[in-house]
Amino acid sequence: MILVKLGGSVITDKGRLRSFRSSATERLARELRRSPFPLTVVHGAGSFGHIEARRHGLHLGLRSDSQLRHVASVQRDVRELNLKVLEALIDSGIRAVSVPPAASASFKDGAIRSFSKEAFGRMLAINLTPVTFGDVVPDSSMGFSICSGDLMMMALAKAFRPRLAVFCADVDGVFDRDPKRSRGAKLIPVLDRKALRGLSRTAARNADVTGSMYGKLERMLAIAEHCEKCMIVNGNVPGRLGRALSGRQVLSTVVIPE
Ligand code: IPE
Repeated sequence: MILVKLGGSVITDKGRLRSFRSSATERLARELRRSPFPLTVVHGAGSFGHIEARRHGLHLGLRSDSQLRHVASVQRDVRELNLKVLEALIDSGIRAVSVPPAASASFKDGAIRSFSKEAFGRMLAINLTPVTFGDVVPDSSMGFSICSGDLMMMALAKAFRPRLAVFCADVDGVFDRDPKRSRGAKLIPVLDRKALRGLSRTAARNADVTGSMYGKLERMLAIAEHCEKCMIVNGNVPGRLGRALSGRQVLSTVVIPE
């Protein structure tokens, strides 16, 4: 199985509330269609989740009753995004079915407390492509919390040990500095723990409701332990995801767990 995360920064415009990048998503769907192996797809929430979740402190859990209408509306918005992604996938010929995170996992302290692979396994067994996503979920200690797509990547990687996990980002991979701010930023072709320790933590400034870039990279290293190969590719460059899926060499960062 191949596990793919379509990052929220690729399928949405992260700066504009609920703006879906339909042509990028449709192209990625066509690239996914050519995958030589069964797929499980995870997508982020982008501007369908982060903006309103941050505004109302949803990542902090239940603090006041007034948050609840925003819990409801962010849940609705990420489902709207999920429907758009499903539509793009189905139009490209992928038999995609939605599996919301809370259908397979329970949550405590903003983390997955238990995960059952069954919902995904059953879909995969009959050649359907499960699609899950970053969501607002019930949480036994916080009332509710945010489940990122990356948390689902981790649970799925552990459960299914995919041959390949691909993170589609809006940059070519991991850089030694923020490539959107520094012109001279250099791509790190192989990221291991040592390389991560060498990276500056300034990226933490841009933390969204599911954590800093540094934290996300730490999680990717943990995910890589459960995959034959784990990589970050630029989903905005046509053909790159498709080539990565078919095992060809592409500009990327390969994440290795040592
Ligand atoms: C965020 O999921 C979920 C919500 C804010 C509800 P992700 O953290 O996986 O989303 P992206 O990829 O960063 O947009």
